[in-house]
Amino acid sequence: MKILANDGISQNGITTLEKAGFNVLTTTVAQEQLVNYINENKIDALLVRSATKVRKDLIDACPTLKLIGRGGVGMDNIDVAHAKSKGIHIINTPAASSESVAELVFAHLFGGARFLYDANRNMPLEGDSNFKGLKKSYSKGTELRGKTLGIFGFGNIGQATAKLAIGAGMKVVYCDPDVAEAKIDLDFFDGQKVSFSLTNTSKNDLLKNADYISLHIPGQDNYVLGKSEFSKMKKGVGIVNAARGGVLDEVALIDALENGTVAFAGLDVYESEPKPEIKILMHSSISLSPHIGAATLEAQERIGLELAEQIITLLN
Ligand SMILES: NC(=O)c1ccc[n+]([C@@H]2O[C@H](COP(=O)([O-])OP(=O)(O)OC[C@H]3O[C@@H](n4cnc5c(N)ncnc54)[C@H](O)[C@@H]3O)[C@@H](O)[C@H]2O)c1
Repeated sequence: MKILANDGISQNGITTLEKAGFNVLTTTVAQEQLVNYINENKIDALLVRSATKVRKDLIDACPTLKLIGRGGVGMDNIDVAHAKSKGIHIINTPAASSESVAELVFAHLFGGARFLYDANRNMPLEGDSNFKGLKKSYSKGTELRGKTLGIFGFGNIGQATAKLAIGAGMKVVYCDPDVAEAKIDLDFFDGQKVSFSLTNTSKNDLLKNADYISLHIPGQDNYVLGKSEFSKMKKGVGIVNAARGGVLDEVALIDALENGTVAFAGLDVYESEPKPEIKILMHSSISLSPHIGAATLEAQERIGLELAEQIITLLN
């Protein structure tokens, strides 16, 4: 059987599939040539990340396809219902990158609490001429230990973020209408395990009590953090959005940064991705990353292996 991994797949995924007798092609075929390529090569399974679109017309035009796999979480680029209606297997890897996103959240949080996002901009410019001035500017950092992290959305990534927070000595509260309670298991290097039980809190209580807020919810029709929510937050809160652009109102965020409600924000996703607003990009209190939450080498390995294992179960 032939598999086309059009947006790439890790070497361990390829090796596992090849050992099970699959032929894995890793050519990146341009979107407009994909139908021809799949039909000419009689491709059985198409694996994508976010770049390749698998729409209804492609699905209808490629009768050899038995499986479509998404390496990652969101399925926005695949017409899932249509593919399923034609009996095509649809697979993804929902939990493979949770720890990667959680670690990026903490990169933004630790960096934010110590102004690293701004120090990294100004040290190359003034580090040799104004060292003492910069030292003074960035001397009132804070510690995460002992503070409260409020997490919106307590699924895979929200819970992975909670583990890091607890490990760093933080108190965790979460708001998720679908998760009344959750057991968070921390596994340590020497085999020790510690379990924590957490219960859902209301949106208002979270906003009122959190020193830091991190968003881990799927895309929504309305903002989850907008003007009204910012007005209920603790003064000096730090906010991270590594979920989806559009769950946080960027205009309201800028206002909240300007009036001091929010001390800093860490953004990995943007309302107008892939062209974030210049006001966001240039703001001196925003720590920025270009939607790389899931993009670690370890996550790519886990994704490749998870896809391979599912394909072997479904198609062998
Ligand atoms: N930055 C990145 O690169 C990156 C990578 C992977 C995933 N993500 C995003 O992270 C988000 C979370 O992913 P996940 O794998 O944890 O998803 P998940 O489905 O495991 O968890 C999402 C949780 O959000 C809850 N939820 C939905 N609406 C809510 C609301 N209005 N208020 C509170 N809770 C709400 C759901 O009940 C669910 O428990 C998604 O938006 C995903 O697209 C980002």
